Amino acid sequence: MTVVGIVGLGTMGLALAQLFTSQNFDVRGFDSRRDGVAPEEHPWSLQHNFSISASLADCVHDVDVTIEAVAEDLDVKRAVLSEISSHTAGIIASNTSTFMPSVLAPSVRVPDRFLVAHFFNPAQLVPLVEIVPGPSTAASATAKIVDLLRGMGRHPVLLQKECPGFVANRLQAAILREALALVDAGIASPIAIDDIVASGLAPRWAAAGPIGVADLGGLDIWQKVSALLFPLLSNTAEPGAQLTSLTSKGHLGAKTGRGFYEHDSQTDAETFRDMEKLFHLGVRPRPGHPSVS
Ligand SMILES: NC(=O)c1ccc[n+]([C@@H]2O[C@H](COP(=O)([O-])OP(=O)(O)OC[C@H]3O[C@@H](n4cnc5c(N)ncnc54)[C@H](O)[C@@H]3O)[C@@H](O)[C@H]2O)c1
Repeated sequence: MTVVGIVGLGTMGLALAQLFTSQNFDVRGFDSRRDGVAPEEHPWSLQHNFSISASLADCVHDVDVTIEAVAEDLDVKRAVLSEISSHTAGIIASNTSTFMPSVLAPSVRVPDRFLVAHFFNPAQLVPLVEIVPGPSTAASATAKIVDLLRGMGRHPVLLQKECPGFVANRLQAAILREALALVDAGIASPIAIDDIVASGLAPRWAAAGPIGVADLGGLDIWQKVSALLFPLLSNTAEPGAQLTSLTSKGHLGAKTGRGFYEHDSQTDAETFRDMEKLFHLGVRPRPGHPSVS
């Protein structure tokens, strides 16, 4: 039986604890803010296969895999990874969204057992996990994590080389930069942009991916479109004006009830239900890809 330790029980750590307990793994969690899990809010946390440890050492000392899910702060991550690695002989996977394994690995005692496993929010729902080995990661550690995730119905995708932000967040950031530039230029409203993606682009991407869509449309066409449009796309290094304005006013989206849209728990629950339906539709695995070989 694989035992999993989760350090950091915030948004992602709690979702990961729920995911792994639902798959009958024994899960131990630790958070420096001990009130991380309120059982009435997270009824699954009362399951017999989940426990909260009193210390980080207790959480990780004899687990097979530890997932580090503390705040995205380099100093905090370095300190926590260093402490984890001095108490476990198992594999350590960081859920960082941005830091490359080679940046974090020097804090870990045995870097060959360390890699990035980047889950997505909500982790119970999104099958994708980007697997990013660092230059020192042993192939056996990568294979063990990939097998573990596949065995529990997740969809690990192995990157060939590390880079900041990995692949998914770079793609999301590229789309968001252009979307925000279009909003700031008054060309389309946020709702029109989201509508264009939902009713046209996203289903095509789900079935074929952006590169597959180019293949289907004809590479000669996309060669011309790229030559014409690439020089006109936003290449700003600044977050958009409206994003900055909303953020400075404390309008942070769903968590504060207002962002580009108004939010309440009911409409957000509907959005999550829609996402769940779409994920259940599933997509065919891509043939020949390392994640399905
Ligand atoms: N939220 C997302 O959408 C998302 C998606 C993918 C990856 N991630 C990554 O997952 C990680 C966690 O993100 P989150 O959104 O869950 O953050 P969060 O702020 O919700 O949770 C972080 C938790 O870490 C705990 N923590 C901080 N210092 C600690 C320490 N020294 N020891 C133990 N616990 C400590 C905090 O108390 C908090 O509960 C980050 O690296 C983030 O980039 C987040």
